[in-house]
Amino acid sequence: PRKIIIDTDPGQDDAVAILVALASPEELDVLGITCVAGNVPLDLTSRNARIVCELAGKRDVKVFAGCDRPLGRELVTAEHVHGKTGLDGPDLPEPTMPMAEGHAVDFIIDTLRDNAPGTVTLCPLGPLTNIATALQKAPDIADRIAKIVLMGGGYFEGGNITPTAEFNIYVDPQAADIVFKSGAPIVVMPLDVTHKALVTKARNDAFRALGTPVGIAVAEMTDFFERFDKEKYGSDGAPLHDPCVTAYLINPDLFKGRHINVEIETESELTMGMTVADWWGVTDRAPNATFMGDLDSDGFFALLTERLARL
Ligand code: BDR
Ligand code: CA
Repeated sequence: PRKIIIDTDPGQDDAVAILVALASPEELDVLGITCVAGNVPLDLTSRNARIVCELAGKRDVKVFAGCDRPLGRELVTAEHVHGKTGLDGPDLPEPTMPMAEGHAVDFIIDTLRDNAPGTVTLCPLGPLTNIATALQKAPDIADRIAKIVLMGGGYFEGGNITPTAEFNIYVDPQAADIVFKSGAPIVVMPLDVTHKALVTKARNDAFRALGTPVGIAVAEMTDFFERFDKEKYGSDGAPLHDPCVTAYLINPDLFKGRHINVEIETESELTMGMTVADWWGVTDRAPNATFMGDLDSDGFFALLTERLARL
């Protein structure tokens, strides 16, 4: 299996991404989960990550606390989407498994140094603060990263927190800039893809019909999420952003994209955090990321449902 570190700010969609990974030991070996401030503050993302591990019956997963604020800006959170706890919806017990000792950033650095180069994949599902801090503290790790497969950004879809910026990149644009300039191979799941991963009523029913604690909790999470989305966008269902990352690692054929240049706007207040994606190749800037643009959404939800059934 591929060794991965999931860097996350759960978040209902983060939770589903984590569950899918933990349900897929043949493909994915989750070395650790590193938490960051994003959807909600760090104490809650650290709590929620452990709730999710316990829901999956995997109390032995190492969960680390990381950075509690972006590199150079005030933390912006998204309770308006995810609720007060970040994981509103299901009624899940408070976690009893302890946090792993040490800082998430040190865990990322040590893991990359202790494993052979090109064997550890990073999966950021939130603001890129932990990853950028690790790259700043230990520049040697850039060459050791197999791949960074992240959820963030948007191009044709625009933004979801400002007209031009997606939440994860907007919260810490400087961190995103460091990551996109790092030279590590990057795969991006932008809103252009995740807005095709809509939890329709039928897909939500399929989760619930699993009849297991995991299936029911996921249905309740996506129900909560959806309430917000219908009101705000009038769409068929809520976009299930973060599971695109773990689904890609299991079956990349579900996705289509282009290897292009992507730069992050870090200066303009108007377009702060925009992912400036050279989709049409109109600059001579070197490609630094595979930017996804299309998804087989039925295949994606079939994979999710099949994996969640294993827990
Ligand atoms: C991203 O922001 C968060 O609200 C979600 O968990 C996802 O990672 C979508 O813009
Ligand atoms: Ca997230």
